Amino acid sequence: MTDEPLVLGIETSCDETGVGIVRGHTLLADTVASSVEEHARFGGVVPEVASRAHLEAMVPTIERAAETAGIALSDIDAVAVTSGPGLAGALLVGVASAKALALGLGKPIYGVNHLAAHVAVDQLEHGPLPEPCLAMLVSGGHSSLLEVTDVTVGVEPMGSTIDDAAGEAFDKVARLLGLPFPGGPHIDKQARSGNSVAIDFPRGLTSRRDLERHRFDFSFSGLKTAVARWVETQQREGVTIDVADVAASFQEAVCDVLTRKAIDAATSRGIEDILIGGGVAANSRLRAMAEERATAQGIRVRVPRPGLCTDNGAMVAALGAELVARGRTPSLLDLPADSSQPITTVVA
Ligand code: KG4
Ligand code: ZN
Repeated sequence: MTDEPLVLGIETSCDETGVGIVRGHTLLADTVASSVEEHARFGGVVPEVASRAHLEAMVPTIERAAETAGIALSDIDAVAVTSGPGLAGALLVGVASAKALALGLGKPIYGVNHLAAHVAVDQLEHGPLPEPCLAMLVSGGHSSLLEVTDVTVGVEPMGSTIDDAAGEAFDKVARLLGLPFPGGPHIDKQARSGNSVAIDFPRGLTSRRDLERHRFDFSFSGLKTAVARWVETQQREGVTIDVADVAASFQEAVCDVLTRKAIDAATSRGIEDILIGGGVAANSRLRAMAEERATAQGIRVRVPRPGLCTDNGAMVAALGAELVARGRTPSLLDLPADSSQPITTVVA
């Protein structure tokens, strides 16, 4: 027997219906039903389609997770659910389901922050989080640098994107290149056979003047426009576009800025550990570049395996288990879904 809390986590902030079950830092089940294929032909997530898909997938996904974990739902100590940020209608399905489950089982409920959950998930793979650590969260909806002292209490935002999120840039550039949605994994794959110095794309917010005001912020919309212009010019001149070279050069520009700013942020606070999370953390070049550059500065890097970087229920359960273990107060049963829940609010 163990005293570690058994927690079920529900994630529905975007297009993944995720249900995870963890005991302390041990992952027992991570079940994900994705509606990504239903959105592919629109080139982006359609909120109403996502909400309906969550509604249909929720009960079977919970049942599958419990079966995989080999537990009865009555065994769990708490239910955790993403209460925000995310798509309002999609969040509502998860929050309503979690409330029903918590009420039915007579267990506490924790409405948790999606970004803090992306940080906490790493404990399932690499053990307790170093405190403090510098977290870089890069996904389709967010790109932020955060100082994390205690993930159950709050995180301090140091910088974020001022326009597109990193994953959004990958998705938009992939679309320009005729690659399927979501584009990140396709760019990653194409880039492997491309030349990363073929085209010198701009590095947003890295000039001396920009650094004065936006030292730890990101901007990817100029880069996206530069890629679009380059592709248009080539097409006008009748030149066949080398997709692999464009993908590799674009990816290099994104990873260069992300790793440079993350290391600068960590160094500025004397932090020796960087944690990378969110869907873009699955990028092979980002992982390699971060490791190489951080090590050269005496900084350690932790990146969860790709399956835990993209949205899933395990990350929510992992944060829930940490909240229970540290004796944090649960949410009230009338907790709202908050599409713009601030990163400083870990539990709603
Ligand atoms: O965290 P996530 O699953 O959902 C959000 O909260 O947004 O991140 C999805 C994003 C998409 O933009 C996708 O293109 C990107 O992560 N992504 C990648 C890779 N795998 C997923 N971007 C670059 N390289 C990858 N290998
Ligand atoms: Zn996410």
